[in-house]
Amino acid sequence: MENQEIIDKTVEFVKETLADAEGGHDRWHIYRVWKTANHIAQTEHVDMLIVELWALLHDIADAKFYDGDDTVGPRKAKEFLESLKINQNIVDHVEKIVKNVSFKGGNHQQEFKSDELDVVQDADRLDALGAIGIARTFHYNGHKNREIYNPNIKPNLNMNKEEYYKSEAPAINHFYEKLLLLKDRMNTKTGKEIAEKRHNYMENYLEEFYNEREWKM
Ligand code: ADP
Ligand code: NI
Repeated sequence: MENQEIIDKTVEFVKETLADAEGGHDRWHIYRVWKTANHIAQTEHVDMLIVELWALLHDIADAKFYDGDDTVGPRKAKEFLESLKINQNIVDHVEKIVKNVSFKGGNHQQEFKSDELDVVQDADRLDALGAIGIARTFHYNGHKNREIYNPNIKPNLNMNKEEYYKSEAPAINHFYEKLLLLKDRMNTKTGKEIAEKRHNYMENYLEEFYNEREWKM
């Protein structure tokens, strides 16, 4: 099978599988990450098929929508790729990437490294930043019916994987628990540059948020 055909089939699979997904983790998130990964990859030495397949499959079954079970995503990605009967090395590499890309509170050890993972991880992280990142955060929060902000609930920077999944904290806390930490965790030069810009935008946003109202009740 030609690479283009593999990509086309994967796009179809993603569209079908994520038809009812939450708005911050739907096919448009996948689309943005896919395009951003392509952009970052232009200045990196990577296998483009791996990068594109990963970008397309990385959130095929996000653990937070499966009671924290992070084995469903890699398994689904693997099963799909095996059904295409492509080279097993590609299948194994993509499966490992899907397993290792997620932030999960940021306090766990990453077991696997590859240049392709660096690119796709940056692309995924960039989609959590800036104007889109802000939109996704409030969308997810609304989906969970959580508060926008509560000055009495302080951000928790020492969460393990389970606590991170279970956290019921307000949306603003997520900026401190994840979004503002990402800038210093970028892997690639292009990723760092874009992250810097989006990070500054979020800091300005937070300043404006606090300035609009004194938060006492
Ligand atoms: P990762 O796959 O890196 O673990 P997530 O899927 O947890 O990332 O997060 C993706 C996006 O979903 C976040 O950038 C944020 O916009 C939203 N999100 C996830 N968890 C929360 C949360 N607890 N509160 C608010 N938004 C969240
Ligand atoms: Ni993602």
